[in-house]
Amino acid sequence: MSIYHTSSLTTMILAAGNGKRMKSTLPKVLHPIAGKPMLRHVMDVGQSLHPIQNIVVTHPGMPPYYDHFSTVKERNDFIVQPQQLGTADAVKIGLTHVKNPDTRILILYGDTPLVTRATLERLLALKSDIALLGFEAVDPTGYGRLITKKNDQVVSIVEEKDASTAQKEITLCYSGILAISAALLSSLLAEVSNQNASQEYYLTDIIKIAASRKHSCQYIVCGQEELIGVNDRHQLLLASQLFQLRKAHEIMEKGVTLIAPETVFFAHDTQIGMDVVIHPYVTFGPGVSIGNNSVIHSFSHLEGTETGNHCSIGPFARLRPGTKLASQVKIGNFVELKQASIGKESKVNHLSYIGDATLEEDVNIGAGTITCNYNGFQKSQTSIGSHVFVGSNTALVAPLIIGDGAIIGAGSTITENIPSDAIAIARTAQTSIPSGATRYRKKYSSTSSEEE
Ligand code: UD1
Ligand code: CA
Repeated sequence: MSIYHTSSLTTMILAAGNGKRMKSTLPKVLHPIAGKPMLRHVMDVGQSLHPIQNIVVTHPGMPPYYDHFSTVKERNDFIVQPQQLGTADAVKIGLTHVKNPDTRILILYGDTPLVTRATLERLLALKSDIALLGFEAVDPTGYGRLITKKNDQVVSIVEEKDASTAQKEITLCYSGILAISAALLSSLLAEVSNQNASQEYYLTDIIKIAASRKHSCQYIVCGQEELIGVNDRHQLLLASQLFQLRKAHEIMEKGVTLIAPETVFFAHDTQIGMDVVIHPYVTFGPGVSIGNNSVIHSFSHLEGTETGNHCSIGPFARLRPGTKLASQVKIGNFVELKQASIGKESKVNHLSYIGDATLEEDVNIGAGTITCNYNGFQKSQTSIGSHVFVGSNTALVAPLIIGDGAIIGAGSTITENIPSDAIAIARTAQTSIPSGATRYRKKYSSTSSEEE
């Protein structure tokens, strides 16, 4: 019986490479794409195939970073490859942790983060002892080349360093991704040596061993944009750009207008509702969801923010984690919000900081209003009732409760709670001295210097 008929699937992600070409103290697979570590992109696409087990083979320097994956840790077995002797060695170590020996294994690379579920499903549907994922490279330099026979069987994979001049002309490349039964994989690995230009144990060597044993080895291809391998910062940029392009298309498919998508940066989890317009130069950090019919104006930076429908944000707004906007909220220019919940139809239109605050419906915050939420030791809350009007240049010294319908005079420093429907003014009373200006000018004009 051919093992690819087994229904059980185990994914194995190779992520233990040195990543020297990144020139970084951070392990390569932790470098983020759209705010999510590369490795997590691969883990998520693997998880979408519902494997019975996922094994992640990591570098000895990785365990201190395991808490990056704490939310999904129980679903994954992280193991360490003590020495980076090559991809075949990594798989061999991974195999010793496989719980079900009858499983089929899907090998994924931690540095190939953009592969899609649809492509992996197509690969798994291939009825072949070994199923390989390949691509036609615009520039194949650096990739292993698929050597095929006329019947489209792959007979070997030749690494760049070991390729002859003629083989280097081949543009059909190996992605690093393959599916094979655990049993066959284990028996093929036993014969892999490190007699090659890098003196590494290449996983790709299993192909010629399998071919010599008459096992079937077929491949499918997908677009190179799914298979960028990230070895250095240039490829990291390329992968990020490709991800942004994909995300922009996904978002436009949902009925969003992007005026200049090349200037907008989405996070991996950005969610945008229908009929939203996003102007140029907007950045989304993780955890943003925008309701329908909203507008985000230029130069706004949003993270950890949820908005209702019909909101208007920016230009130049900074919405920090814990921001919640109800519907029809207006957040204008040079406004910063943090841990702030803003009620329906409320407006914070100009030059304000609202942090650790709750605003009910129809609140109007005047220009230059600051919630003084931090006394150098602790954060305190400001709670503002519905229909409150806060005059410009007001300092709200938290903790503070402002009742429904209250009005605060401009330039106030509010330190005490305000009852509902009260007017609060906390500023020095004004004095106007009749003809004072005339006397003042007279006194000083005789002493002023010529130039001034
Ligand atoms: C590898 C393939 C090459 C393919 C290319 C696709 C081999 C020998 N070559 O080359 O055919 O075209 O990927 O991007 O497999 N790793 C370990 N332990 C090790 C070495 C590597 O876990 O000892 C991991 C790395 O973290 C990485 C993956 O395996 O995720 C591939 O290793 P890398 O050194 O990047 O291989 P490439 O030279 O890119
Ligand atoms: Ca690589």
